[in-house]
Amino acid sequence: MPALKRRASPSAAEPQVKKRKGVTTSLSSGFLAPATAKAAFPVDAKVKRIPTKSKSAYLDKRCDRCEGKTVQDCLKLQYTKANGEKANYTLADLRYDVGAKRLSVTGGTPGLSSRNACLAPSLGLAKGPPLSVCKDVSAAASLAGGVRLRSGTIMPAVGFGTYKLKDDEVAGPVLKALKAGYRLIDTAQVYENEKGVGEAIRRSGLGRGDVFIETKVWRSSHGYDRTIEACRKSLRKLGVEYVDLYVIHWPGCKTGWPLARGTCCPKDWTPAMRDTGTYRAMEDLYDQGKVKAIGVTNYSVRHLKQLLKTCRIKPMVNQVEFHPRLVQSELLAFCKKEGIAVQAYASLGSGDAGQAESFFAFPPVQEAAKSHKVTPAQVLLRWAIQKGCHIVPKSVREERVKENAGIFKFKLSAGEMKAIDGLHTGTRYAWKGLDPDSIK
Ligand SMILES: NC(=O)c1ccc[n+]([C@@H]2O[C@H](COP(=O)([O-])OP(=O)(O)OC[C@H]3O[C@@H](n4cnc5c(N)ncnc54)[C@H](OP(=O)(O)O)[C@@H]3O)[C@@H](O)[C@H]2O)c1
Repeated sequence: MPALKRRASPSAAEPQVKKRKGVTTSLSSGFLAPATAKAAFPVDAKVKRIPTKSKSAYLDKRCDRCEGKTVQDCLKLQYTKANGEKANYTLADLRYDVGAKRLSVTGGTPGLSSRNACLAPSLGLAKGPPLSVCKDVSAAASLAGGVRLRSGTIMPAVGFGTYKLKDDEVAGPVLKALKAGYRLIDTAQVYENEKGVGEAIRRSGLGRGDVFIETKVWRSSHGYDRTIEACRKSLRKLGVEYVDLYVIHWPGCKTGWPLARGTCCPKDWTPAMRDTGTYRAMEDLYDQGKVKAIGVTNYSVRHLKQLLKTCRIKPMVNQVEFHPRLVQSELLAFCKKEGIAVQAYASLGSGDAGQAESFFAFPPVQEAAKSHKVTPAQVLLRWAIQKGCHIVPKSVREERVKENAGIFKFKLSAGEMKAIDGLHTGTRYAWKGLDPDSIK
């Protein structure tokens, strides 16, 4: 797919922010500058007010969080609190990346709550291989495999879902996922966990460019101005300068549709209203480089057709409920034709409905699992990928997080795919079974 031509993007050149006299903070890492992401200080945040390239000079500076203490003393205190033992840091324990102006502590500090994760030593996770482009999702050979969206951004085939995990519980699972090699984290304004997700990503020690962040604008923020504001808040909570994918969480005129709040569509719609709508805000955010790709979720073919009539920039992704009980073939074919990537959610039966066990018991799933010596969960995820969907399975358990990533070493046969397709009943489990197409 050809890359879209953007309007002038403010992030095209490396931005520099003037902090204090003579001191600038580079924003080129993609994380927000410390002035706005103050909570990330002192570990795994860029250094401010330090016009020196020396680690020791930095450590002797005053810590901005704990007024009065030096950075070194502050780090020792944090370590002691987290580990219950006195820290005995030497300069050798600290890694100081002069280029990135970033300080981290070697070794992890397990057991920290996400509230304090910003103060915890960076886990210094090893950077994975660069994302590789596949011609379609089913060709992805690892968690680093992805498909190029129309914007040029590479979206990994497999990501990690975070629904139901609030700010104070999301950091652990996200860190487990990043450790296992996941490269995409799916969050949303309405999940109330963007802050925790951002903290976990920073704590991982991975660079901003190593993790694909997807978030969503909720119904309460529909309409142009609200969407711009919602995005600003999401970026601030995540502590990043941009997100890789920004999507409209729900369609519908009552919920905002691509039109202004309260406007009914399509009967009452006029082209002038486009400019006051949610989707117009998404397009502007994309032009400004605050979001690297835009899309929708829970859009039916009818919703997409309506949107395609009015949009300037086509949506690049549609995240929808998709599993063997809800094989959305027509939607999938429509999206394929329009160059819109489909990202399946609730692949394991939805966190809301708790259907995983009953999905695992489906005979065609059991048989395929037995014949490939894999688990039923892996069969379900592999099936979704082979159908042509990106996936975002969620689990709080490390062994499951790893298990869900082990889907690249086997391939379901045409017969196995067909047998699983045959489980379709049209049943929805997410959103208490609400069919988004019923939203006018
Ligand atoms: N756009 C939308 O409207 C929308 C709606 C729903 C979801 N989503 C996104 O899609 C993601 C995935 O959907 P989901 O969270 O509803 O559910 P899911 O991925 O289908 O998982 C359902 C449940 O299965 C369990 N599980 C995961 N891996 C397992 C394994 N290997 N073996 C046994 N059980 C396993 C998990 O419980 P444990 O955590 O206890 O392991 C999880 O709660 C969400 O987290 C969210 O990011 C988007």
